[in-house]
Amino acid sequence: MIIDGKALSNQLDISMKAEVKALREEGIEPKLVVIIVGNDPASQIYVRNKHRKAIKLGITSIIERRPADFTQAELLALIDQYNRDDTVHGILVQLPLPKQIDKSVIIRAIALEKDVDGFSPENVGKLFSNSHEHYPVSCTPKGIMTMLAHYKIDPAGQHAVIVGDSNIVGRPMGALLLNAGATVTYTHILTQDLSSFTRTADILIVATGVAHLIKADDIKPGATVIDVGMDRDENGKLVGDVDYDQAKEVAGAITPVPGGVGPMTITSLMQQTLELTKVANH
Ligand code: GUN
Repeated sequence: MIIDGKALSNQLDISMKAEVKALREEGIEPKLVVIIVGNDPASQIYVRNKHRKAIKLGITSIIERRPADFTQAELLALIDQYNRDDTVHGILVQLPLPKQIDKSVIIRAIALEKDVDGFSPENVGKLFSNSHEHYPVSCTPKGIMTMLAHYKIDPAGQHAVIVGDSNIVGRPMGALLLNAGATVTYTHILTQDLSSFTRTADILIVATGVAHLIKADDIKPGATVIDVGMDRDENGKLVGDVDYDQAKEVAGAITPVPGGVGPMTITSLMQQTLELTKVANH
């Protein structure tokens, strides 16, 4: 089975569009601010895609572009301006940031009620303590949970193996799966004999940035394989961290690249923008 993130994203757009329309009829204008500093090529594409999706749904999207030599003090001032702007519901600072800027300082500067990425220590703490409150979570793991639910893949009691320990994907992904009742194993760059872990996964999440790291032999027959990679192969073609052509013969369900996780990440961002808009206006 192919897990079609693009189709699910398009399906969810229909209800989100209706929701935005209803909010606007109440005089509420959902508004997202995306700040991008520097010229990272992948970030440029991500930000453009976020903007397009927001426009498609009727969400107001402001993109603030700043040069690579923008200072931390200048960025803090820009964030402060939007923290104090009551018409803004979500603030996202695109990562990575240039080296003169400390990302943890920046993440903590975003007002908690506008932390649409869920990266603040408070929101991460709620995730890892399985809080019953409503809180935003990192968009990629959230989108993956939405896909699993849609395809009726229940993590409860399953062995989930995470490959890659990033703050944006691997770590929050493991927490969400744990909260959903999975037995979770984290693997990362220092893990020895990676395959001995991945082969025991009922649900395998791969987020390393290494093209075609995972081969058919690394996958348990029938497993669900979620590929977060957006890599380039030797010919410059966009590929995932999983060797899709061989993996699809072994996996029970698998996400393609492109058209799997990517569209769902953006969908999650839009859902969380609407969520923060509603919380601000209730
Ligand atoms: N860079 C890569 N993924 C993300 C994300 O989800 N949010 C932000 N802010 N930056 C990113």
